[in-house]
Amino acid sequence: MAARLLSRTDRLLDTAQNALETVFGSPRAERPNPGAGEPEVVLEDVERRHAAGLMRINHVGEVCAQALYVGQAAVARDAATRDHLLAAAQEETDHLAWCAERLQELDSRPSLLNPLWYAGSYAIGALAGLRGDGWNLGFVVETERQVEAHLDEHLVSLPAADGRSRAILAVMKADEARHAANAEQAGARILPPPIPTVMAAASRLMKTVAYRL
Ligand SMILES: [Fe+2]
Ligand SMILES: [Fe+2]
Repeated sequence: MAARLLSRTDRLLDTAQNALETVFGSPRAERPNPGAGEPEVVLEDVERRHAAGLMRINHVGEVCAQALYVGQAAVARDAATRDHLLAAAQEETDHLAWCAERLQELDSRPSLLNPLWYAGSYAIGALAGLRGDGWNLGFVVETERQVEAHLDEHLVSLPAADGRSRAILAVMKADEARHAANAEQAGARILPPPIPTVMAAASRLMKTVAYRL
């Protein structure tokens, strides 16, 4: 009983630490920033603002990924699933840090609504997790596939001269595809309709708002 209470308290503290670090801290990447090798080209103001809008969306996406995975891990039944989710969250930290760095280079800032995005995604992750570990992993697959699709759109939409952002997104896209494949291998279930459609609608709303705010 005491052990269970302790592990619950541990998880709560882990969540609080991840939330604060993700939203208010400056998470550190373990891998070097893929954009660092690309020349910094001075963009026209309109282009710079557009690139910043897209990178803000990607940064919010990574805030949501942290929250989803930590939320799901908090209710995961199986230790292997929990480890899988927390390892994925760790890898997303690189993406989070790279997007934050690029936003700064573009003379911009992360979304003002990040605490809200984090809280909403955490709740969604925990709800998905409560349905069981197969669903939990199915949710990871669907999320990663949707992120991969929107990274594809951004790779096309970014200003041609913005090689730095493009290099970051290309590595992120490859990582997200691997995350989805790993979750599939770990026993993900395919989510039934209308869940994928609802998730896509929520992400469209997030993208519209985060481009500006
Ligand atoms: Fe990511
Ligand atoms: Fe991912």
